[in-house]
Formats: sequence, structure tokens, C-alpha cells
Amino acid sequence: MRVMIVGGGGREHALAWKVTQSPLVDEVFCVPGNAGTAAIARNIPADAADIPGIVSLAQEHRIDLTIVGPEAPLAKGLSNALQSEGLAVFGPTKDAARIESSKVFAKNLMAEYAIPTASYWVFDDFRNAISFVDEKGLPVVIKADGLAAGKGAFVCRTDDDVDEALRKTLVEERLGDAGKRILVEECLVGQEASVVVITDGETVLPLPSSEDHKQLLDGDRGPNTGGMGAFSPTEAIDDALQERVVREIMLPAIRGLKEQGIDYRGALYAGLMIVDGDPYVLEFNCRFGDPETQATLPRVKGDLVPVLLAAADGSLKGMKIDLEDNHCVCVTLASKGYPGRYERGLEIQGLSECEHLDNVIVFHAGTKTTKGSVITAGGRVLGVTAIGATKKDALQRVYDAVDRIDFQGKYFRRDIGMRSSY
Ligand SMILES: Nc1ncnc2c1ncn2[C@@H]1O[C@H](COP(=O)(O)OP(=O)(O)O)[C@@H](O)[C@H]1O
Ligand SMILES: [Mg+2]
Repeated sequence: MRVMIVGGGGREHALAWKVTQSPLVDEVFCVPGNAGTAAIARNIPADAADIPGIVSLAQEHRIDLTIVGPEAPLAKGLSNALQSEGLAVFGPTKDAARIESSKVFAKNLMAEYAIPTASYWVFDDFRNAISFVDEKGLPVVIKADGLAAGKGAFVCRTDDDVDEALRKTLVEERLGDAGKRILVEECLVGQEASVVVITDGETVLPLPSSEDHKQLLDGDRGPNTGGMGAFSPTEAIDDALQERVVREIMLPAIRGLKEQGIDYRGALYAGLMIVDGDPYVLEFNCRFGDPETQATLPRVKGDLVPVLLAAADGSLKGMKIDLEDNHCVCVTLASKGYPGRYERGLEIQGLSECEHLDNVIVFHAGTKTTKGSVITAGGRVLGVTAIGATKKDALQRVYDAVDRIDFQGKYFRRDIGMRSSY
């Protein structure tokens, strides 16, 4: 069969890496992909957000399954467009993707189906919001309703923080339509972790738990980024808690959507805060996480393609996902300056040396190939990933590999998987 993967980051390289290992798969296309996917699949230089363009590609290349990586095309209805041409797609429809594309929608769903989450209040007016927060007291979390590429959530500890968050969203509309409506949330204190499930709208199969490091600097300090690394499993979620997450969060969400006439097919990601041993939802994403996917897919035993296909066509019942009993750590190598301005086009050295290391996989994110060499093409450049029998073992391997790769301005965190809370 022929598979197309939409997107071009580390998540999509990890998906391509897993899918190309399937004996069912003859050919994999990545749109647009990166230098890493080019080595194992066929890249097509098209825009992942161009819905009619993607549908034409799927027809032209007689694609049997399209897997959508990022949220933006899902929120715009890529899955609907593919389905209406009779094409199989892994990823929710536009209505189902609202669980990520509208945080108010997600919160209302959680309230309706008693899914544990922080209390929340919705505003579209600056004055009303600010006087509410004055009365309620700090801290609070302020969030834009719509998609904001990780820039729409503000943890506010001072009046100035509140003022700035509300001005950015409601007054200056710096997040555009996404910030015209906001949520004020109760601030939860606990340990963050995530669980992703694959679902066909009925059956729910969990992938391994993981934890990511969003902040730029060691010690979880500095600005938020798309993700500086991740590891799996996380100590914050044992088997019993994972089961509770499925029972108390994932199944009620999927069944709640179904009750509203929405059939959710694809990956459902829950960003969680574990408070005194109990899981609360911070947010849902309608897709696999990045970089969590790089740290979880290498732990999946065997072929994932039958599961992805079954999720797409609604026949997941009776299937399972087997996991390796190991640990995986992914360290992001970023460009100097990221998440602000950074240079592109810098040559990357040491990649071929890492290909020969045992239990190490270098997933590409912002890379491309020119004249036979691989150069940087984004803020997050590579996701260096290693597997080990223990986390310590995986950490040793991953940082050994990180040291062998170089490009001008290479930046990474030295403390991935080493939070002081364990
Ligand atoms: N209710 C909350 N209490 C405490 N921290 C929160 C809360 N909601 C979000 N956060 C923090 O803000 C981060 C981003 O929020 P999230 O809802 O995941 O938005 P997004 O990923 O869309 O930016 C979370 O990872 C968490 O650290
Ligand atoms: Mg988040």
C-alpha cells in the first residue's frame, strides 16, 4: 500500500520512520517532509495547508492512507476533503478537531461529561475579564480560544501579567481571531505529563506516556518553545494512572463527541496536570505531539500501520498496541536564537556517524538537503533520540550522540529527562 504523511517536522519524520518499517507498505510520500524523510521516503514539495492540493496529490499517487501530522490542516477540514473523495485518512474531521482548535469548545465538552479539568470562565471583553480576575485573585491562566501555535496560553502571577495577556488577545488582537475570545482558568499546581491515544471514535488504544520540556533553558526556565525534548515513559504516570486517564478522560471525551454526532478518528492527545495523584486535563490536541512522538513511537512494538488503518476505517475493536519495556529520550537540537530569530542554511555535520550508533535515531525537523549536504532550515533542527533498558542508559546514549553532531550555533538543553521532581 501507499501512505502519505502530511507535515515536515520531527513528528512526521518519526511517523515516516515507523510506517516505512511496515511490511504492508510499499511506498511513503511526505508533504513536504524534510532531509530526514527524504532518506526513507519520497518528499513532495507542496504546502501542507493547501487542502485541494493535498487531495489531488492523494489521488494522483493513489494513496491508500493519508496521515495528517499538524493541527492546522485538520482544523481547516483536510480530513473531510479526503473522505469526501473516498480516501482513507488518519486524523479527525474539522468538527472533531475543534477539541483543539477551540479551547472553549474543549472546556464545555469536559464540563458536560464531567472530565476533570481546571475551572474556567469565558470572556470576549477586556473590562469584564479584568474585573473578574481582580475579584477572583491571582494566579490565573489566560488562554486564547483558537489556535495560536503554542503562543496563546499565559500563566499570570501578577496584575501586569494579566493586563499584558488580555491586551495582547482582546485589545491588540495580536493573535488575530484566535484571541478574540479568551478563557480564564484556575491555576493548577502539579506535575505535567501527556497521554496520547489512537481511536476510531469507539475504541481507545493508548500509546506510551511521555513528558516534554517546553522551556528553552535548563531547569525549565526561559521562554516557551515548540519543545526542547521529551522522554517516555514518565514517572508521573504509572499503569494504574494511565488506565484512569483512559477511563475518566479519553473515553468520556470520545463518547461525549459521539453523542454530539461527532465521530473522532485519529490521535487524541491530552496534556495533563497530575495533582496529588489525580489527572486533570490542561488541553486536548487533535494529533500526535511534537516532540513526544519521537520519544514514544520507538517504543511501539511491531507494525503500527494496521492500527492507523483501523482507526481510519472504524475497525479498531479487538486490536492492541504492544510496547517495548524500555525508555526513550529525545533531545532537540535548535538553532541559535530560537524561538526568536535565527539563521538558516548552516551545514550539519556528524549525521552519518550517528547512523551507525546502536539504539540511536536522529529524527529531522528543520532540515533540508542542498548539493549533497544537509543544512538547517528551521528553529528546531533535529530530534536526537535514543532507546535504553533504563532511562539512565537512554540518556547516556542520547547525549553521546548529541555531542557528535554539530552546526554553527547548535543549542540544546542538557537536562532533558532529569527534572528534580523525580
Ligand atoms: N490551568 C492551568 N494551570 C496551570 N498551568 C497551566 C494551566 N493551563 C495551562 N497551563 C500551562 O501552560 C502551558 C500551555 O497551556 P496549554 O493549554 O497546553 O496551551 P497550548 O499548548 O495551546 O499553548 C501548559 O503546558 C502548562 O504549563
Ligand atoms: Mg500545550
